[in-house]
Amino acid sequence: MPLMEPYRVKVVEPIPVLTRAEREAALARAGYNPFNLRAEEITIDLLSDSGTNALSAAQQAAGMVGDESYAGARSFYRFRAEVEGLTGYPHIMPVHQGRAAERILFATLLKPGQLSLSNTHFDTTRANVQLVGAVAVDLPCQEAADLDSEAPFKGDIDLAALTDALTGPDRDRVGIVLMTVTNNGGGGQPVSMANLTAVSRLCRQHGVPFYLDAARFAENAWLVTQREPGYAHLSPAQVARLAFDLADGAVASLKKDAIAHIGGFLAVRDEELAKRCELLLTATEGFRTYGGLSGRDLEILAQGLREVVQPDYLRSRAAATHHLGELITAAGVSIVRPAGIHALYLNAGRLLTHLAPGRYPGHALAMELYLAGGIRCAELGSLYLGEEDADGNLVKSAPYELVRLAIPRRVYTQSHLEYVAEVLAEIAKAPERVPGYRIVESPPLLRHFNCRVEPIR
Ligand code: F0G
Repeated sequence: MPLMEPYRVKVVEPIPVLTRAEREAALARAGYNPFNLRAEEITIDLLSDSGTNALSAAQQAAGMVGDESYAGARSFYRFRAEVEGLTGYPHIMPVHQGRAAERILFATLLKPGQLSLSNTHFDTTRANVQLVGAVAVDLPCQEAADLDSEAPFKGDIDLAALTDALTGPDRDRVGIVLMTVTNNGGGGQPVSMANLTAVSRLCRQHGVPFYLDAARFAENAWLVTQREPGYAHLSPAQVARLAFDLADGAVASLKKDAIAHIGGFLAVRDEELAKRCELLLTATEGFRTYGGLSGRDLEILAQGLREVVQPDYLRSRAAATHHLGELITAAGVSIVRPAGIHALYLNAGRLLTHLAPGRYPGHALAMELYLAGGIRCAELGSLYLGEEDADGNLVKSAPYELVRLAIPRRVYTQSHLEYVAEVLAEIAKAPERVPGYRIVESPPLLRHFNCRVEPIR
């Protein structure tokens, strides 16, 4: 297979291209917060790879035969068979998106004061752990701290730290170990099968439930076939199955690796736990055969799960991200290395050395990408993770000032990605011209979604 997109385009959507003056006005109106922009003001949207994917003709066709019966719909059984075939889990509950699965699982499994241990919790996952009064603890591996290291599995959990947690004074508080594959909060880095195997063994030894956050299970499996000795001869679906085999169940946002717009699942082995989860599912999402989704959605998801494990698709997607990463690096902008698949993470702190963390260099670079090229993305730095005093001064900065370029599935072509690299290269020629930002309005919760900031001229 030559390295190109293994599909051709049948339906197109125009891309808005605004003038710089129009973008300046749009951004000022949005309070310099990318979440407040209207999609029609955006040329290339790299805010998220979640629910932003392009459906295949086969998915559209599957949607047409969706069975919209309230209970027992044919579409549910197709969905369940697909997820069961993929994961091997006997109890499968559809939900409207990943965070619903997290909420239901944690509310059923965790008690107040317990600990959830992870390579890194995604932010909604952390919030759902905290909502039941439990504590989310991230134990990323040592290699993850070195953004430039080419270590192949920087999404791994720190096994020594995990062993300490499972044997130390707080061992009785550990309620779950949750591995996020790939590790979205940690640079989109994959988790090795060796690491998952060790985690599984430790959890069995200490009687702790082990779950996967499998939002990007296929992309993780692909990187295992490419990077981990002993897996090159297996298909991505086979590797994914080996990973699911190691755990007691999984939560998954299917807005990512089912190449769809909405959906998720909660899957568990334990029948008694499944029954308790089903009660919450029915009370808060929908009856167990639809979980808040339409028959049409369930069909589209089932078909997407088939398509996402195709080697040609995964090879092309990984190559596209890698290509963009190389162009960006050549333009003098550092990325978290090595490139993963769903996103590239730009090291804005290293590019905008004239901006202290309190001037939010990650946010500044994200804003500049919009102003210069209509590219929308969001920072993962001190605006998102930092802490301010009452006067709005940053008192605790994030460990790194990053910007995530998340890449929707099957949506943008190589030339779109090359355009992104060109815009970034222009900015990198005179980074000192990029202004810093200050917060003018900061809500107490979920600040990055709702805050308003302004440039410091
Ligand atoms: N887990 C991971 C690893 C995620 O990346 C996300 C969502 C979720 C859980 C929650 O799933 O959105 O379906 O409720 N990530 C999106 C992103 C929002 O942009 O990375 P959800």
